[in-house]
Amino acid sequence: MNIEIYTVVNTAHNLMTHGKGILAADESFSTIAKRFKKVNLDSTPELRRVYREMLFTAPDLERYISGVIMFDETIRQRSSQGVPFATLLRERGIIPGIKVDLGTKPLPFFPQEKFTAGLDGLEERLTEYRELGARFTKWRAVFKIGDTTPSIECIKANIAALVRYAALSQQAQLVPIVEPEILMEGSHDMESCEYHTRRICSLLFNELVNNRVVLEGLILKPNMILPGKNSEQSAGADEIGAATVRVLNRTVAPAVCGIAFLSGGQSSVSATENLNAINSMGKSSPWSLTFSFSRALQEQPLSVWRGREEKIKEAQSAFIYRARCASAASSGNYSSALEEHK
Ligand code: 13P
Repeated sequence: MNIEIYTVVNTAHNLMTHGKGILAADESFSTIAKRFKKVNLDSTPELRRVYREMLFTAPDLERYISGVIMFDETIRQRSSQGVPFATLLRERGIIPGIKVDLGTKPLPFFPQEKFTAGLDGLEERLTEYRELGARFTKWRAVFKIGDTTPSIECIKANIAALVRYAALSQQAQLVPIVEPEILMEGSHDMESCEYHTRRICSLLFNELVNNRVVLEGLILKPNMILPGKNSEQSAGADEIGAATVRVLNRTVAPAVCGIAFLSGGQSSVSATENLNAINSMGKSSPWSLTFSFSRALQEQPLSVWRGREEKIKEAQSAFIYRARCASAASSGNYSSALEEHK
């Protein structure tokens, strides 16, 4: 292994430190505006900065969080003391990361399907992000289950972009977090989520290997195997854990450095319970099975804060509480009793 790729592998291992996970704080302008609107806040650059500063300066964050994924605007912002966010995180022992895709666009001739944009100029952007302090990156592809979706054309288009992105990231000495997300929206059952996740992950890994991406320096960010939000089916954490581990065992190469799940719109408690069940079922898995949550870590602190300066400390405690629970779940040590002793 050459020295450059060794650096990438080493960073990937640090991100997967036992008992820690990743905070996804990379909401795009439109996503953060949606989240802020729910608590009656306007999304301004200054309010977004204050909000992210509140998260990044929360006491003890480094005990539970190994890395933070930022958005382009955020990695260029500074704390109230004038310290760039990437520096602030690094000084706390947290690895700065960056979302590098440019969001989803309608896939021409495939109504309801999307592809992720952002390959044009990516090499140059990666070089700049590394100079700004980033050491890992994220790219998200989305798939929606419907009567005729996801189509193989949509899967192939998105996988081709994910693989090119992963290779370019490693070439720029950045760890890629590869995120093929099957949305929870829809009335599909769990079996269907399992089937499509298996289909997508097996094609994805085939292409990653063929394109010489170094799996030891890559993190997979998948969805958990869940019934659709509008399905009649209900599933317990054990069932979800077993199905999720089954798919991963069947499709993800053991060489992959680690797996960090998205929360995908589940409640904070459900996402945590399910991560815990995944860890209980996946005790003998070759990878760390941790979190890279956005909503499941941020929903509660955001609703405590609501833009009020006097609520910052309380919101930080709510945030750290969720991070502590997720951290416990990442080693299979979470229990609902923890929720009663906030
Ligand atoms: P959620 O945990 O809210 O699904 O977000 C994770 C993420 O980064 C989506 O790209």
